[in-house]
Amino acid sequence: MSAASPALSVDTLTTEIRSRGTWYQAVRAVSFQVHARETVALVGESGCGKSLTALSIMGLLPLGVGRIAGGAIALDGEAVSGRSDAQMEKIRGNRIGMVFQEPMTSLNPVLSVGFQIAEPLIYHRGLSRRAAEARAIELMHLVRIPSAAERVGAYPHQFSGGMRQRVMIALALACAPKVLIADEPTTALDVTIQAQVLALIAGLQKSADLAVLLITHNLGVVASVADRVLVMYGGDVVESAAVRDLFARPTHPYTSALLAAMPRADRSSAVIAPIPGQVPTLADMPAGCRFQSRCPLREERCAQRPSLTAIDAAGTHQVRCWVRGGASS
Ligand SMILES: Nc1ncnc2c1ncn2[C@@H]1O[C@H](COP(=O)(O)OP(=O)(O)OP(=O)(O)O)[C@@H](O)[C@H]1O
Ligand code: SF4
Ligand SMILES: [Mg+2]
Repeated sequence: MSAASPALSVDTLTTEIRSRGTWYQAVRAVSFQVHARETVALVGESGCGKSLTALSIMGLLPLGVGRIAGGAIALDGEAVSGRSDAQMEKIRGNRIGMVFQEPMTSLNPVLSVGFQIAEPLIYHRGLSRRAAEARAIELMHLVRIPSAAERVGAYPHQFSGGMRQRVMIALALACAPKVLIADEPTTALDVTIQAQVLALIAGLQKSADLAVLLITHNLGVVASVADRVLVMYGGDVVESAAVRDLFARPTHPYTSALLAAMPRADRSSAVIAPIPGQVPTLADMPAGCRFQSRCPLREERCAQRPSLTAIDAAGTHQVRCWVRGGASS
């Protein structure tokens, strides 16, 4: 509401998942803010809670399996957590757009892409079908789908993977939301198309003052497009920093391990070190630091949960680790 309010604010969000009758914390007191024209990245291995964070914000947790157990979510200073499904339907696709990892699972295969892009404009903005379909063609132009007017009646399977992802972006941006959540938007695409889609999002972001929450397991993508980054492990934010600080001074042992495991053009594959072990399942998460079963620096005190503490004077680079964190002795 006020000019100073972040477009998206997530405050100590805790999300639980039910497995065999027991609720487990899969997102643990996660906090961050995204301002207009800013890109915040959530990064981490498979299963660390990235998508559940996004689905919690969107009000799309699987019914009976996922629930928000604590925290608050606000859009432009206005609280949206705790709203009913009907109220969230008015927000989704209108004030927040979302691009999913695999467009074939989120686009309807039996409806034309033009129809699908037009739908939110009719529902949220009250446009006539004719006006909405004309706008759908403009949006397809905007995301650089060639021959948009001829292809507006085509079906998702008639588009390549990269073009389908553009359709998803057009759909997510149809109602001019202020927040875009992109969950692994380029993972299914080859490297050249990945770069094109990321450049497209960055260009649209500037022209529409968008706040972008980008979810990825790819630190290369983070380095090229994000302003801030939150590294997640086992549902915890383990490190949070401006992107240049994270790469200049990666501090949490998990961040260091992720960087060592990252393929880079300037080193041979022989020096890439995969992270040993696997992320434990939610039922097997250790008490205390959740990274302890894979951490080379583990100590006795790691059996207690470390807090996220600042390691710089500005307080903007934060680390959750007894040994490497700001509270370490
Ligand atoms: N519908 C579900 N039913 C049961 N468990 C789930 C469900 N969704 C997520 N989980 C569990 O919650 C944890 C976090 O999952 P989440 O999907 O947020 O991970 P992610 O970081 O998005 O991983 P990926 O990179 O594979 O997409 C994982 O342990 C996962 O198995
Ligand atoms: S708290 Fe301990 S186990 Fe966890 S990352 Fe730090 S050193 Fe490793
Ligand atoms: Mg995911």
